[in-house]
Amino acid sequence: PLTRSQFALGFMDPPLPPVSTISVPTVSTTLDWTVNQTALNQHRADIEQFVDAERNISLVRSEVRVGQVMHFDYSEQKYVFPISASLYSLIPEVSPFQNKHYNTCAVVGSGGILSNSYCGNEIDRADFVFRCNFAPIDKYKSHVGSKTNFTTFNPSVLEKYFSNLQTIYDRARFLNELRRLRGAVLWIPAFSFHGSNMVTRTLTDFFLEHERQFNPKLNLAWPGNVMKYFSDFWKTKGLSPKRLSTGMIVYTLATMFCEEVRLYGFWPYSVAPDHTPLSYHYYDKKGTTFTMKWKQAHQLPEEFNLLQHLHKQGVLKLTVAPCS
Ligand code: CTP
Repeated sequence: PLTRSQFALGFMDPPLPPVSTISVPTVSTTLDWTVNQTALNQHRADIEQFVDAERNISLVRSEVRVGQVMHFDYSEQKYVFPISASLYSLIPEVSPFQNKHYNTCAVVGSGGILSNSYCGNEIDRADFVFRCNFAPIDKYKSHVGSKTNFTTFNPSVLEKYFSNLQTIYDRARFLNELRRLRGAVLWIPAFSFHGSNMVTRTLTDFFLEHERQFNPKLNLAWPGNVMKYFSDFWKTKGLSPKRLSTGMIVYTLATMFCEEVRLYGFWPYSVAPDHTPLSYHYYDKKGTTFTMKWKQAHQLPEEFNLLQHLHKQGVLKLTVAPCS
C-alpha cells in the first residue's frame, strides 16, 4: 500500500540522501531570546507582498459556486474536483481568521524532539495553538500540550489513520477526535493533490452527517490554490523545495495573526542537539526507524536553517530543548 505522503503526492520521487549524511546543526538551547520588533515588522511586510493571510487561509462562499471546477496545486491540470453542493455548504461565509489577532501563539510541529520535552504546559499557555496534520496528543499531553485552536488536516490522514471511515470503529474514533476539536479551526488542503479527491468526498459526507453534534461548531477552512503564494515568498529567502512543509506554511500564517510566535517540534534530524536518538514524529511507535524517505518533496533541513536564522534575528522563538 502507498504511504500517506505517496498517496497524497500521487507519484514517486527520486530518493533523498541517506539521513546519516544530513548534518545536525549546532544550536543554542539557552533561554535568552527577545523579540526584535523592527525585524518582525519587516518580516511581516515581506510576507504580505505575497500572502494575504486572512483570504488565503480559506475559500469563502462568495468566491466559489456549486459545480465550479477546481484544479490542484501540485497535480497536472487535467485533474479536477468540481465543488459539490455538500462541499459548498461546508465552505465558510467569512474567513475564519477575519479580524483575528493573538498575543502569543505556539506552532507545534510533529518532530521527535518533543518526546520527553515537558513542553506541554508552556505550549498550552499560548493564547492560540496551531498544530499540524491532526497529530495525536492524548498520550503525549505533558510534552506537546492539549490546547488546539487550529490544526491542518490533509485528507490523506483519513486513509492512513482512519481506514477511510469504513468501519463503525473508525467512524466512532474519528468523531471522538473531532469532538475534541470543537471550536477549533480545521484547515483542510483539499486542492493540493488530486490523490485526495475520494477522501475529500468521504470527509464532506461525514461532516454533514454529524454537523449537528458539534456545538460549538467546527470551523472548517478550505484553502484554494494558494500554495504558490507561500512558495513565492519563501523563494525570496532562498528556499525553493518542490513543496513547503505543512509546518512552514502554518508558521507563515501564524506570523500574520500573532504578536509572538513560538515554534516547537521543528527538528528534522535523527538525533537531538545532545545526540540522543530521535524518532521522526513524537508519536511514532517505539523502535520506528527515523526516516525522511517519503519527504522527497520537502527541504526540511533548509527550512530549519531559515527558522534558526529568524530565531537569531528575534522574529520567532524556536524551542529545541526540554522546557523547564
Ligand atoms: N517537522 C519537523 N521535524 C520533524 C517532523 C516534523 O520540523 N522531525 C515539522 C515539519 O514542518 C512538518 C510538520 O512538523 O511539516 C508536521 O509534521 P508532519 O505531520 O510529519 O508533516 P509531514 O509528514 O512532513 O507532511 P507535510 O509537511 O507534507 O504535511
